[in-house]
Amino acid sequence: MSTAFKDYLPLSIASITDETVLGFDLYQPGADFPKLYRSKNIPITATDLEKLREMGQEFLLVPQHQRFVMLDHLCESIPNVIADPAIPTEKKYEVLTETSVAMMANLYEDPTLPESAKFLIKHAHHHVSLALANSNAQNVMLTGTIEATPMIAHAIHVSNLSILLAMRCGITEAEELFEICLSGLLHEVGKVLIDSKIYEEGRSDRRVPHRRLKSYPKVGGDMMAKAKVIPAASLRAIVEHQERLDGTGFPGNLESDEISRSARIVSVCDFYDETIRFGEHNITPKPFSVLSHLKQAPDKFDERVVLELIHLFAESSQS
Ligand SMILES: [Fe+2]
Repeated sequence: MSTAFKDYLPLSIASITDETVLGFDLYQPGADFPKLYRSKNIPITATDLEKLREMGQEFLLVPQHQRFVMLDHLCESIPNVIADPAIPTEKKYEVLTETSVAMMANLYEDPTLPESAKFLIKHAHHHVSLALANSNAQNVMLTGTIEATPMIAHAIHVSNLSILLAMRCGITEAEELFEICLSGLLHEVGKVLIDSKIYEEGRSDRRVPHRRLKSYPKVGGDMMAKAKVIPAASLRAIVEHQERLDGTGFPGNLESDEISRSARIVSVCDFYDETIRFGEHNITPKPFSVLSHLKQAPDKFDERVVLELIHLFAESSQS
């Protein structure tokens, strides 16, 4: 998106119901700059939506300064999108992901705002709903792309992967899956708090001294605790996701059973996606290499969790 569009957020038209007053302005992408399509108090009609679809216009733009109203709208409308049998799963995933990207961008802009955490609390349930919908939805969540900055795409994919892996590990309670999902979304917020340039400059966390960076899980967990809305189990997994079973992790050098089950799941997903996405840990950033490395490190990662991750990818490639 060109710089003329940087002050706007995309909104998929699949999330818009006709004849509803949205409370925020909608702009249409133009060649040079967005053009006002509909003022905030005038609803979009069914005919408008049909014309937009005919034109291939899948999204409209919302000004950044109206983002909280838009996020509220998305929190309300996504359950209908997920439940609608007429909407293809890929489209549902796209709408869900676009919303997650907007919410994560909002959080990383200022992680100290309690509103940002509150929006994510509402939204994390939608990730779980889609994962519980059917095996096709699970496959799309495992393999789908995420259009976002690398740091945001990483958080969302770790979250999705953690839900799917938790389900494979026998966790079926929606509430526990929601807690794990939230940990995935929030696991790196401490890095942004330590140095906002890590986010602004695209996750260049090598700019921060390693010793200081090692405090990020605790810094992030402490900040999210201040919002007073994040479940304790989620906070614990945020703080523990860099711990390793042999006590070589950080920030607490916890060992084996001292690390929660949720944190073990998020840590495997985090390690996997960091290696593939950012080429970290001096391992070839290919799925087979990363899975082999994880399998050969039972002293650091939960063996059963790693085995289930291998099964998850193996079954997905066969479907
Ligand atoms: Fe991470």
